[in-house]
Amino acid sequence: MCDNLCFSKNTSEKGRATVIFSLKNEVGGLVKALKLFQENHINLVHIESRKSKRRNSEFEIFVDCDSDHEQLKEIIQLLRKHVNVVEMDPPDNSCLLEEEIYDLPWFPKKISDLDKCANRVLMYGSDLDADHPVGYQIDNLFCRSCHGLQTVCFCIFKHHGDPIPRIEFTEEEVKTWGVVYRELNKLYPTHACREYLKNLPLLSKYCECREDNIPQLEDVSRFLKERSGFTIRPVAGYLSPRDFLAGLAFRVFHCTQYVRHSSNPLYTPEPDTCHELLGHVPLLAEPSFAQFSQEIGLASLGASDDSVQKLATCYFFTVEFGLCKQEGQLRAYGAGLLSSISELRHALSGNARIMPFDPKVTSKQECMITTFQDVYFVSDSFEEAKVKMREFAKTIKRPFTVRYNPYTQSVDVLKDTPSINNVVEELRHELDIVGDALSRLNKHLGV
Ligand SMILES: [Fe+2]
Repeated sequence: MCDNLCFSKNTSEKGRATVIFSLKNEVGGLVKALKLFQENHINLVHIESRKSKRRNSEFEIFVDCDSDHEQLKEIIQLLRKHVNVVEMDPPDNSCLLEEEIYDLPWFPKKISDLDKCANRVLMYGSDLDADHPVGYQIDNLFCRSCHGLQTVCFCIFKHHGDPIPRIEFTEEEVKTWGVVYRELNKLYPTHACREYLKNLPLLSKYCECREDNIPQLEDVSRFLKERSGFTIRPVAGYLSPRDFLAGLAFRVFHCTQYVRHSSNPLYTPEPDTCHELLGHVPLLAEPSFAQFSQEIGLASLGASDDSVQKLATCYFFTVEFGLCKQEGQLRAYGAGLLSSISELRHALSGNARIMPFDPKVTSKQECMITTFQDVYFVSDSFEEAKVKMREFAKTIKRPFTVRYNPYTQSVDVLKDTPSINNVVEELRHELDIVGDALSRLNKHLGV
């Protein structure tokens, strides 16, 4: 009978709701559906039909009715016995039922669910798109194997919480790292943003990041955890943009420990440990930047492939190649720039094309993988970029919103009134703390 069902509650008038369902082409289908309303004593106020936007051969039926929440739940459940696909249009979280999200792409709900993502590595030549922007940013084991290097780290690290095995880098690898470290450090004072410059010395202080020593990921992960809550997770190869962004939602950054080939220390076709440690880590230690990265990740959970691709592109032009303005000067905060001597120079040379960061525009920009970017996007601050990304995330079609719960390291899916009420309660408690702090401060100041 009903093949496709949408449901939204009209929040402007209490007790009034709209049910939208589509019918298979069968005699008496509409009568059967409407009879369910009658049998459940639900008063129909308005009925309308239109051609289905989803399936050309079908019609959608709009039904406005007066009912309470419980009656609506019942009627939806009855109708859904005949439904194959569920979709919300327009989305409304206030009455979303558990069944209504089953048809969305799977996403991790708790941090240990990332085990399923991190082990889902794409293989070269089969399922790896060399041009996808985020996948490219993740180092791969295969190059490391090609170079005859150690691979044990990635074989052992299977589960969340496992310690990251320490790598004994070869003399040649440390020498290569040293060249990159030295040359980049010459540029940072004039090219890197202030947050980067503030945190880089901390990496030396707490993780033994020096010209003659490559930091160990376990130490870096512990350092980040204390600074911003981010942790590092080693991965055996490229992840899909969806899986990589899902990690960010839990403040988990996937990376490997492969060092670029010694024959050309200043160039690597793939990001390597120099890119991860010198490019990403100093900014992942910055709370405002960590929050920005996490919000991109959270927006990706359960989103369509198209939306994930747009978010991945925004990630690419911010976290990887982003610029910001500080004291009237352009500065780099993107890890792809901060780990590339030639592109860092180019981006700030005055010859590169610079545009304001606008997710709607940026998400359509082509990502260049083997050449410099055609354009770089500039934000005034991470805060500004975060606000813009937040607004952009609201346009992503998804029948719920998510909230990260740092206590349980899990994602709360806000899909109904009780789950939203829980957030409100927590916010009340937070505001109480703020109120208490302010009153104590006032007392102390004698106000
Ligand atoms: Fe990267």
